[in-house]
Amino acid sequence: MPLEVASNSKPRQLRAGMVGLGMIFDETYRPFFERAHAESIYDKRFGVLDVPLTAVASRTGSRAEKYRQSAGDKISPFVSFSGDDSIQQLVASDVDFVCIATPDNRHFSAAKAALLAGKHIIIEKPSVLSLSELDELTQLAGRKKLLAKVVYHKLLDPDHKKLRTLVSDQVLSHVNNGYCSLLEPKSISGGQFAEWITGRNPGTYVAVHYIKLIDFTFGGRLKTITATGQRGLVGPQDGPTWDSCQMRMIYEYASGREAAFDIHTSWVTPDNFPGYVEQEVQFRFDNGIWNGHSRKRGVECTVEGRTPFTLKTTMNNHYNGTFLEPWGERSQRGYGIEVLERFVREVAFVELGGAASEREHRFQSTRNLTYNDLGADRQTVAAVQGLEAILDRQYRGQPDCVVRVNDAAGGLVLYRPGAAEPEVLYGPAV
Ligand SMILES: NC(=O)c1ccc[n+]([C@@H]2O[C@H](COP(=O)([O-])OP(=O)(O)OC[C@H]3O[C@@H](n4cnc5c(N)ncnc54)[C@H](O)[C@@H]3O)[C@@H](O)[C@H]2O)c1
Repeated sequence: MPLEVASNSKPRQLRAGMVGLGMIFDETYRPFFERAHAESIYDKRFGVLDVPLTAVASRTGSRAEKYRQSAGDKISPFVSFSGDDSIQQLVASDVDFVCIATPDNRHFSAAKAALLAGKHIIIEKPSVLSLSELDELTQLAGRKKLLAKVVYHKLLDPDHKKLRTLVSDQVLSHVNNGYCSLLEPKSISGGQFAEWITGRNPGTYVAVHYIKLIDFTFGGRLKTITATGQRGLVGPQDGPTWDSCQMRMIYEYASGREAAFDIHTSWVTPDNFPGYVEQEVQFRFDNGIWNGHSRKRGVECTVEGRTPFTLKTTMNNHYNGTFLEPWGERSQRGYGIEVLERFVREVAFVELGGAASEREHRFQSTRNLTYNDLGADRQTVAAVQGLEAILDRQYRGQPDCVVRVNDAAGGLVLYRPGAAEPEVLYGPAV
């Protein structure tokens, strides 16, 4: 991507493309782009940076038009592409990076098209659903010297940052086991996601937040994945669409000791549940316990006729809260938005943060950031692929399969009770 070398004196520009204008666009990307439009971004390494959203792609284009009307001058003028070749049209436009927020099983094709067209990418979690897809994207990004990143905003949650700090500083020593749960209301699975939910499960969609948190915070080597789930509410009880699921991952650490983690997820919790979205973790160490409850950070608010539907009872004001600032401004801020700004700063650093002759160095150092680089997502994608394979076999009448990672038969290997031969899901080492 031939961009000018930085001089800190005049505003620079990185043009953004957005694929998918659904719930997550509205919660995090929209406020990010609106703030960047109003205030720009500054960093002494690349100066003042404008980040106009210049193109969007979606299935029908209707949400783009609605957004154009409602946003007015809060956002720069943008082109809206819709229909079957909307992504191809978007990546052929003059954007510098592409944000991908389509349903989970439609990330890969959009990401590949963007990289082939020479654009940096950031993908909503889970990055992709298989290790072979991950290989293709990381190799492509490496060859083209482009950033390929994934959004795991929970790693930027101050509570999770504190957990990782205590682990890294060895205040908390050796995790033995733990559990995480994330429960979403029925309105999510029955309304917003109805178009694409057939054949999907809430584990891939949200357990992946915690798979990554565990992988990134504690390190170690993923060894085993088991899972089960329930059906009958979102779809038929013998169909491929899951109401809730429970997975277990076993890790081994350099010491040879193991840890087990259970992750429970659902998208059929009653809509009037006070938490609306309920998130809880507990990790037990040799010398301590970490209990986290993201919706019980101290606030409980009831408003007649509004909570918990249009206003949450136990609100998370850290993720992307809307505020009246003490100085009179209205704002929307939080770690869900901060994570996107960080990515844009990383792209700006690579492209505009110094001499062109040193771009390779800047590129490699940015690629080494394991919290968001696709290259560091291998164990997380392995866990997701294992989960999906186990649920798929259960749907086909073969319950209780186990997936092992890096054993004698291959990188990701599925064992079915009673079957003599294992099924290799991915041959190379994970
Ligand atoms: N980080 C988080 O906490 C978080 C929260 C919600 C969703 N997500 C992730 O974001 C992604 C999108 O989820 P959502 O909740 O916004 O979904 P959504 O159903 O609300 O929106 C999906 C959007 O993708 C568009 N789309 C679908 N297929 C397309 C295609 N082939 N070409 C172009 N556009 C297409 C739709 O038009 C729609 O605008 C998912 O990967 C999800 O896992 C992340």
